[in-house]
Amino acid sequence: MAIMTITDRHLRPLKNLRLSVTDRCNLRCQYCMPEDNYSWFPHREILSYEECGRLVDVFTELGVDKVRLTGGEPLLRRDLHILIRMLREREAIKDLALTTNGVLLAERIEELERAGLGRVTVSLDTLQADRFKNLSKSRDFDRVMEGIRAVMHSSLGEDFKIDTVVMRGTNDDELIDLIEFGGEVGAEVRFIEFMDVGGATTWATKKVVSRAEMLAEISSHFGPLEAVAKNDTAPADRYRLQDGRTFGVISSTTQPFCGGCDRSRLTADGRWFLCLYAQAGWDLKTPLREGASVEELAQLIRGKWVQREDRGAEERLSMKEREPLADAAEMRNNPHLEMHTRGG
Ligand code: GTP
Ligand code: 5AD
Ligand code: SF4
Repeated sequence: MAIMTITDRHLRPLKNLRLSVTDRCNLRCQYCMPEDNYSWFPHREILSYEECGRLVDVFTELGVDKVRLTGGEPLLRRDLHILIRMLREREAIKDLALTTNGVLLAERIEELERAGLGRVTVSLDTLQADRFKNLSKSRDFDRVMEGIRAVMHSSLGEDFKIDTVVMRGTNDDELIDLIEFGGEVGAEVRFIEFMDVGGATTWATKKVVSRAEMLAEISSHFGPLEAVAKNDTAPADRYRLQDGRTFGVISSTTQPFCGGCDRSRLTADGRWFLCLYAQAGWDLKTPLREGASVEELAQLIRGKWVQREDRGAEERLSMKEREPLADAAEMRNNPHLEMHTRGG
């Protein structure tokens, strides 16, 4: 089968696959999975690496050339380097990245490098150990810092990003410190507006710090900012400080970017979700395990993508009374609604 590009009803191509390798996480971040207990996928439901590889091959036949491994926390999945090595061998994948909370990075970095991982993004919401503990219910702040330093000293330090979810009254006083820290460790920091996605059960409009507010604060400290021209569909808008350092803002909440969305998500149990806000996804695992051919799976995926209309974040923006997407009880009944299941 020749590689093709398929587009949806808004002419958006299918290019970018976020592959969640586990629904489990070793942190409990307030904006993502604040509860103590969750219902986890049973092991037999989780795709093997071989199954992941077979599905990825179908996606690349349809034009996907960027794959990002997500979770939960992807480094909790045993031997992740085996999957990375397997995907690295696929020539169609031009960009192979990992999003991690960094706790296990220091001990795994060499393995990831050797396996051929292309890029890494670490989530880091604060530079203060006590805040980290409140925010994530974890004492592993020092390990995250070690992980970040390990990336800096590795070949993955070349294209290294730090993602910070900014919440009013929680960490919105750290923007300047985080930019300085990014400079010290050679990472581009991206500030993400707090989103009302599944998992964010404490979300409220008043906790969202808008891009406009962030830029005002950053420029009042560093001086005028220059917008960096965009040449891709990545969610971040980038800015340059006068000294040349850059940072990004992902304004999913106040200025969504659905018009350029080329992303979809595969959960660890093989369900394919298009929009981050979608209520339902499609089960690819069952046909895969029943022996469907690449062509049959491609037909299924193509059929769904060409019908795709969603602009979830834009629809949320147009709502008058905005509340969290789902409450904790609803997500217990349907864990696929969770951000940690969907992989962001
Ligand atoms: P690169 O820019 O290619 O490095 O990747 P990325 O920005 O897609 O990756 P990352 O996992 O770092 O995404 C950062 C965050 O942006 C996510 O965790 C979400 O908060 C947000 N985000 C990513 N994809 C989407 C999307 O499709 N829609 C919306 N609304 N937000 C997204
Ligand atoms: N708002 C914005 N980003 C979120 N993430 C998870 N939950 C949210 C949310 N409510 C994304 C962030 C974070 C990663 C773990 O998942 O990018 O860094
Ligand atoms: Fe794409 Fe949905 Fe995110 Fe909009 S909200 S950018 S359509 S995933």
